[in-house]
Amino acid sequence: MKITENSPLLRHNTFGMDVKAARMVEFDTEQELLEILTGPCDRVLTIGAGSNLLFLNDFCGTILHSCIKYIDVVSDEPDAVLVRVGSGVNWDSFVAWTVRNGFWGAENLSSIPGEVGASAVQNIGAYGAEAKDIIKEVRAVSIEDGSVRVFRNEECQYGYRQSIFKNELKGKYVVTAVTYCLSKKESPKLGYGALQERVKSLGAVTQSNIRLAVAQIRKEKLPDPAVLGNAGSFFMNPVISTELFERIRSEYPEIPSYVAPQGFVKIPAGWLIEKSGWKGQSLGPAAVHDRQALVLVNRGGATGADIKKLADTIIADVKRKFDVQLCAEVNYIE
Ligand code: EPU
Repeated sequence: MKITENSPLLRHNTFGMDVKAARMVEFDTEQELLEILTGPCDRVLTIGAGSNLLFLNDFCGTILHSCIKYIDVVSDEPDAVLVRVGSGVNWDSFVAWTVRNGFWGAENLSSIPGEVGASAVQNIGAYGAEAKDIIKEVRAVSIEDGSVRVFRNEECQYGYRQSIFKNELKGKYVVTAVTYCLSKKESPKLGYGALQERVKSLGAVTQSNIRLAVAQIRKEKLPDPAVLGNAGSFFMNPVISTELFERIRSEYPEIPSYVAPQGFVKIPAGWLIEKSGWKGQSLGPAAVHDRQALVLVNRGGATGADIKKLADTIIADVKRKFDVQLCAEVNYIE
């Protein structure tokens, strides 16, 4: 276990915010986490790789970071495996492991920054797949009383970028392990248009080619946080009424859309932001990425307030132009 006081967070957030935490605890086992939770703990924040948050200030409390790293096959059946993974495992290393072993289900989620624990909190999703599709259960420790609870998938209340850990139980549990159910049968998901074409151009429909295709598409659109600070999609794609969608479509027949529950349509926030004239634009050191308007970037030296100011300005402009309310996907940390 590593405990540091007045700990710099620059390497712990992909937006590149140069802030500090009063205390940072990196625990290697669930037992170590329990030891920390029985001691005095003021304000607590659990982070993964810091790839989906924006620090607005120094954090005056304790930051918990899981370094629990293992990948264990806990059940091996003819058609499927159950794999329990420590919450501190790098997400993409886990995906690479699944592909090496021929276990299907995670390959469309290749190259997503972050760690296994956060993937279950965020219900990460891309290219027609979501973490919830392969999660069997989530093991977590209560911050309040140190009790261990195993949440079955249905108990996690998963939705688009949503889970019980982001809502009702926000800040109340620390995820220590996630168990995934992966298929041993070939089960490619190529519904996302550009993915199918890209895989075809690489040859056969194999897990490796799907992984490579996803990595290539992401690289073309999304900035590398090591080069340009960012936290991936800054906003969620809004779900709007069919009526509002039709109103927008009468002016912009080309508007892309995703399926949503009856009476609603999900539309890409990136498209709305681009049509509002923000793609590639800056406000001080904060900017909108020039290849994917859904991503806000730190051009260097931006503070959390700079990024938030840009986000708020975009939200107001999109609201004015389209009457659509954008919501941040990134978590603001005060
Ligand atoms: N679009 C624009 N302008 C832009 C960006 C997008 O017109 O600047 C249009 C595209 O042309 C396309 C549509 O919007 O027709 C969708 O774009 P894209 O395929 O890039 O996907 P997205 O809806 O913008 C979502 C996820 C991404 C994920 C991709 C692929 C959210 C908030 N974002 O983006 O997730 O990689 O789909 O499945 O749901 C992330 O969460 O960090 C992330 C990158």
